[in-house]
Amino acid sequence: MTKHSIAVIPGDGIGHEVTPAALEVLDAVGAAHGIEFSRTPLDWSCETYLREGAMMPDDGLERLRGHDAVLLGAVGFPGVPDHVSLWGLLIPIRRAFRQYVNLRPVRVFDGIDSPLRDARGIDMVVVRENSEGEYSEIGGRMNRGFPDEMAVQQAVFTRTGVTRVVDYAFTLAGQRRGRVTSATKSNGIVHTLPFWDELVAERAASFPGVEWEQEHIDALAAKLVLRPGHFDVIVGSNLFGDILSDLAAAVGGSIGIAPSANLNPEREFPSMFEPVHGSAPDIVGRGIANPIGAIWSAAMMLDHLGHPEAGRQVVAAIADVLANSDVRTPDLGGTTSTGAFTEELIRRLK
Ligand code: NAI
Ligand code: MG
Repeated sequence: MTKHSIAVIPGDGIGHEVTPAALEVLDAVGAAHGIEFSRTPLDWSCETYLREGAMMPDDGLERLRGHDAVLLGAVGFPGVPDHVSLWGLLIPIRRAFRQYVNLRPVRVFDGIDSPLRDARGIDMVVVRENSEGEYSEIGGRMNRGFPDEMAVQQAVFTRTGVTRVVDYAFTLAGQRRGRVTSATKSNGIVHTLPFWDELVAERAASFPGVEWEQEHIDALAAKLVLRPGHFDVIVGSNLFGDILSDLAAAVGGSIGIAPSANLNPEREFPSMFEPVHGSAPDIVGRGIANPIGAIWSAAMMLDHLGHPEAGRQVVAAIADVLANSDVRTPDLGGTTSTGAFTEELIRRLK
């Protein structure tokens, strides 16, 4: 029996509906593979913020540190600005635990409609730099309220930071279809992105088995829509990766399906797994949230914790339900509840 300790943060809204579904699936697949999960439930959320004035307690990061992974639902509550949940919870966790890779796989499963007419062969992963780049705290504002009011924010690209995420992307591509596309804009942004390009070319030389190319972000956005099947692994800076991963997830069908992982590849600190979607206040409490994003995120956690076969089985069960039944939640045109979908998936796991 292998044991893992998981910190579980359902968060807000449908986080409380999809996270239990993911935990049920983990228990089911764990039982078959001799994996046991001990869970620490944590009620950190925007609702906690409204009550107590903080997204998480002062010693929050310390309390997470001893766990093997963090499973997060979604955070967001009407009346709480986005930057509170982002800078009060998600970004501190990503940065303190050196989760410098944000990984977002996109697939169009059989039985799911993509908004694109030609969605054949969509199977890609966006690798987003998750700890530096454009999302920096360096900068400031001056002359507030005057006509010469100004704001400056510095992007930070380091050799270490770029190299490690690029290495991750090339290694991943080597295990997949062997193609890396690097997102850049070195024609317009003349310091940081030429540096990024140089480092990508430098690292590419160490991965002779992987084909690579670079595309300016604007052209890449267009190609993602026109020729999505072309892409295997796309690597981008924090901002470019953020935008591309939402675009790629939209191309893949419903926002309810998309998973993500915030990885500390060295496993010195816990990594964090969360669906891409938010707390969906418009459907909360109705039992109709699509749990696939949360369940697929849990599958990525299994993979990261050294159980790739268990992770593959979970993704295969998702694909099986979608391809071979009409069991699906209303966002995918079905009538099934979160709970009934999860039951069907677990049945097909066995
Ligand atoms: P959202 O992702 O919560 O919802 C967008 C639309 O997609 C809604 O119509 C919703 O009903 C639908 N949807 C989302 N997830 C679904 C699921 N699993 N099954 C079925 N339908 C689903 O994004 P929105 O409305 O922009 O934001 C709502 C709140 O969530 C805000 O407070 C926002 O800050 C927060 N948020 C949090 C994120 C996170 O925790 N990482 C990411 C995005 C938004
Ligand atoms: Mg985003």
